[in-house]
Amino acid sequence: METRKQFLKKIGSGAAALTAGAFFNPMKTEKLKEKLDSYSGTAVEIARNEDFWAQVQQAFTVDRSLINLNNGGVSPSPAFVQEAMKKHLDFSNQAPVYNMWRILEPRREGVRQRLARNFGVDTEEIAITRNASESLQICQLGFDLNPGDEVLTTDQDYPRMINTFKQRERREGIKLNQISIPVPAEDDAEIVRRFEEAITPNTKLILMCHIINLTGQILPVKKVVHMARKKGIPVIVDGAHAYAHFEFDHADLDCDYYTTSLHKWLFAPHGTGMLYVRKDKIKDLWPLMAAAESQDEDIRKFEEIGTHPAANFLAIGEALTFHEGIGSSRKEARLKYLNDLWIDEIVDGDKVVLHTSRNPKYACGIATVEIKGMEPNELNSTLWSDYRIITTPINHEQFRGIRVTPNVYTTREEIDRFVGAMKDQIKKV
Ligand SMILES: Cc1ncc(COP(=O)(O)O)c(C=O)c1O
Repeated sequence: METRKQFLKKIGSGAAALTAGAFFNPMKTEKLKEKLDSYSGTAVEIARNEDFWAQVQQAFTVDRSLINLNNGGVSPSPAFVQEAMKKHLDFSNQAPVYNMWRILEPRREGVRQRLARNFGVDTEEIAITRNASESLQICQLGFDLNPGDEVLTTDQDYPRMINTFKQRERREGIKLNQISIPVPAEDDAEIVRRFEEAITPNTKLILMCHIINLTGQILPVKKVVHMARKKGIPVIVDGAHAYAHFEFDHADLDCDYYTTSLHKWLFAPHGTGMLYVRKDKIKDLWPLMAAAESQDEDIRKFEEIGTHPAANFLAIGEALTFHEGIGSSRKEARLKYLNDLWIDEIVDGDKVVLHTSRNPKYACGIATVEIKGMEPNELNSTLWSDYRIITTPINHEQFRGIRVTPNVYTTREEIDRFVGAMKDQIKKV
């Protein structure tokens, strides 16, 4: 009969490693990074290496009784990001005015430095916000506009951001113009042309997505920014879905204003976002909440939001460590691979249509698919009620379908079950 010690030793290597708790301990976090570093091969080879991704999957505490293919909405955080946040929160509550304000809050500067380094910009150009909405509204509401001034965006931009400009229309008498974008869009010049043709002498501001949330379409940000810059028109880039999703940095975009959520593809705590403003543009952009005149040229003026938890913002550091441990190019290749797996199995271009480009330059881990003759809402509900699979329905005037966004913790077996469920539904039409 085995002794208790033998038993514990046996489960120590297997079962314990399978619990996310194995990664709560900082030593184990280091071990995970060491393990991931030990794999050789190109990003595309690693994307197919289930052994590598098994290590990554174990860092999450996700509910495996369901299949979550809506990671685009908001992502779960790895266990040690959650743990770091809880630890900071507990410490804050011992004496918030001292521990949170005097000890933890100044550490935000370290997170700012790391975000800046990751994005390839100066530390003094990064503000830490609560989400992409906040970062975007700082920009959308922070430019002075007069009645009759026009702003330009697409009819596929995020509804909250469109509503932000619509409120300025009602409140200040500005005018919102929207262009349409082809689905999918695989011709950069055509996108630039559509924006350029819609510019009038009154156009003062452009808002564009880096990734369109409805289809996963990646847009040619740098080309639009350069076209608009020549005309003196600022471009606000909505990167809610792009940052830490696929490999790029600021040099690939050359934009003056970039906004993102960190609780989507960076897997940082919920309620975290980032705003980049080029150094010489900070002065002329008003913050959402008023700041002192002495802060006019300080990126921190955008963080004057009153009392808030320090815990969320500090745990962005752990999320960055996890992200950098996987590596942007490996993450990008895996997300694309997971989508390719199901797309190859079910999309026939006839009964089952994809509204997302298959060219890796134009899409990565987000894809939208339509079963002809089936309502997206109905398909979405059936996938949940009959198979415990979460997707999200997309209903746009130009296209419809369900949006599928796997994550680095998604297993091949989960994708196989999704394929099986979709095949069942395809047979019905
Ligand atoms: C394109 C786009 N912009 C902005 C947002 C807003 O993000 P958040 O709700 O994290 O502020 C989203 C959210 O999904 C989005 O898809």
